[in-house]
Amino acid sequence: MEGPETVSADCQATALILVIFERLAAGGCQSYLIGCAESCAAVLIDPEISLIDRYLALAARDGLRIHYLIDTHTHADHFSATQQLSRKLDVPVAMHRASPAPFVDLRLDDGEMLMVGKHRLQVLYTPGHTLDSMCLRFEDRLFTGDTLLIGAIGRTDLPSGDPGALFDSLFNRLLRLDPELTVHPAHEYKGRSHSTLGQEIAGNPRLQVRDRSAFAEMMCNLHLSMPTHVTEALRTNMSGGKTVAQMLADAAAVVPFMPLAELKTRVEAGAGEFVILDVRERDAYEEGHIEGAKLLPRGQLELRVNQDLPDPTRRIVACCEFGRISTLATATLREMGFQRAVALEGGMKAWREAGYPIKSGRES
Ligand SMILES: [Fe+2]
Repeated sequence: MEGPETVSADCQATALILVIFERLAAGGCQSYLIGCAESCAAVLIDPEISLIDRYLALAARDGLRIHYLIDTHTHADHFSATQQLSRKLDVPVAMHRASPAPFVDLRLDDGEMLMVGKHRLQVLYTPGHTLDSMCLRFEDRLFTGDTLLIGAIGRTDLPSGDPGALFDSLFNRLLRLDPELTVHPAHEYKGRSHSTLGQEIAGNPRLQVRDRSAFAEMMCNLHLSMPTHVTEALRTNMSGGKTVAQMLADAAAVVPFMPLAELKTRVEAGAGEFVILDVRERDAYEEGHIEGAKLLPRGQLELRVNQDLPDPTRRIVACCEFGRISTLATATLREMGFQRAVALEGGMKAWREAGYPIKSGRES
């Protein structure tokens, strides 16, 4: 994924009340911070998890207070940041009422609106890409989620997608609005900032098929490849559960690390000041481990900890293959009271690549 990028920002008069607008891109995912310059109230639409610090920084820079965190639909292709931001900012997550996510505080329905300072954010229920898809109108801007993209439309082959419903949402709803409205989609892969409804009606190739059954047939025959991380994105966005990356980041935040070279020097000094705890499986351990390392596979950690690590005051360096499972294991050890547990930076793969000595077979 590309690095965070603020791709456009403006401050323009809408009905004599200034609007502050920021568009942020993470790869092809677009999110929007829009607010009322007079009252400093704002909403954040379709935030993505890697940009959390950037959203907070932009809101602070622009003097905005975010009042609502909104997902236009259940995303299958990126990780929503609404839940995490909601906890940080203590503001509600808003989605359409059909959203399966249990962490949604504010369930919206067609025709309803949220007040954003002096402005209105109006909900248009537009199912089709997903059952819970909605578009949002803010003055002359239309945030179209994945219902309508620039030169494209949202796919309907992912869970709860429905080509017939998308046809109705587009042709009987969205495209009947003022053609001057600007279109701001949740995805854009060619760097375009926005278009207008009129431009899409005239030039969007998917919108040229205006017969409902022909449209459905076209949508069923696109044969698109699955988005990356689809299973994990749906799992976390629908349930509020954590991504694997979040689990690792949470563990890494409470775990100190031992640099490879530092451990090598200390092992060579032979002071025996550590328990080197290898949390891989036995076959990996026997293939090559740090001399003196004790084998305790991660899967057996809680079961064998009392027997294998009787002294909670010992200094422990946990290692695994890549440095990730050992981070989780170290967090668990610390939670259990091993306050001197640390994880080996980089793991055994990095240890071998550094040319550091390994021992094979069992330890006596
Ligand atoms: Fe989507």
